[in-house]
Amino acid sequence: DLKVTYLNAAAENLLGVSLRQSFGRSIGELVLPPEELTALCRRALNDGQIYGCRELAARVGDREVIMDCRVSPLDCPDARLLLELFDTQRDRQVRREAELLAQQRVSRRIIRQLAHEVKNPLGGLRGAAQLLERQLPVASLKAYTDVIIAEADRLAALVDGILQSGGEPKQKKFNLHEITEHVGRLIEAEKPEGVILVRDYDPSLPSTVADQDQLIQAFLNLAKNAMQALGDSGQLVFRTRVLTNYTVSGQKHRLVLSLEVEDNGPGVPEELKETIFFPLVTGRDTGTGLGLTIAQDLVSRNGGLIEFSSRPGATSFQILLPVSNAPEAT
Ligand SMILES: Nc1ncnc2c1ncn2[C@@H]1O[C@H](COP(=O)(O)OP(=O)(O)OP(=O)(O)O)[C@@H](O)[C@H]1O
Ligand SMILES: [Mg+2]
Repeated sequence: DLKVTYLNAAAENLLGVSLRQSFGRSIGELVLPPEELTALCRRALNDGQIYGCRELAARVGDREVIMDCRVSPLDCPDARLLLELFDTQRDRQVRREAELLAQQRVSRRIIRQLAHEVKNPLGGLRGAAQLLERQLPVASLKAYTDVIIAEADRLAALVDGILQSGGEPKQKKFNLHEITEHVGRLIEAEKPEGVILVRDYDPSLPSTVADQDQLIQAFLNLAKNAMQALGDSGQLVFRTRVLTNYTVSGQKHRLVLSLEVEDNGPGVPEELKETIFFPLVTGRDTGTGLGLTIAQDLVSRNGGLIEFSSRPGATSFQILLPVSNAPEAT
């Protein structure tokens, strides 16, 4: 009853078993829990009608999948039902990525406007403080005008940094491990003793062509966030991977390089999850809420995207960089 007589290649892939392994086994053994799917099959067999269900959450092998299913009765000597399974997980991810991209375009506009608005009055502020300084009756008051000037300069530099990140990427060929190692050294110098940095590298990672400084800045922002989330103790993992036939921003790529920062901290606060890449969104008292906006912007200039997933004890921010040209191994 409900025994598998044939699987096409896509089904073998989705269910994680070969035709040989599954032949003669019940469909209820391959998709767990079995009730909903087998009930659907029985209904189709009894009524001779086509039945379907959407967004069935199931386990196949050791994977959680969300599938749309359709069962059609067949008039065929060695098969009585055709079961079609559609993996909708990827679709959801593609939708989510499209949302991220749209968010990021808005962010970029807001941040540039904000930068301009801040920059204009700064010049006036600094000039006025310099004039004031010359008129001061007591030299000791200069300490105050010095503060105004120094802070105005600091803000101006910050704003310049934001506006400048509009420049064209400086392309060069390098291995992404240079980035993780560079950031690793910075984090190691700064991190509290109780925070452990673990490296989980894929040694076969091919070299890539991108703007190294921009990607260092982006990866550093992610690593700092993770370190700040951990506080005094916890574990930070830098992970690199090569993903094949992977879709980023709605486009399928033969090769995508992944740079990931994982931490076992408390996780991204629920109320921030939808807007975390927007400017000025922060969960920290001393945060400016620009770190992720800038990181997402820099990565997108290099043709990539930052994705994240977070629950308490497991938060991961992942830079996905499609490799457009056939890369040479290093
Ligand atoms: N790994 C993480 N774990 C938990 N929360 C995180 C993590 N990364 C980011 N967040 C949350 O996202 C918020 C936004 O991060 P973002 O880097 O954009 O700004 P920020 O760190 O607050 O300020 P800054 O501009 O100094 O980076 C953080 O304030 C924090 O609440
Ligand atoms: Mg930050």
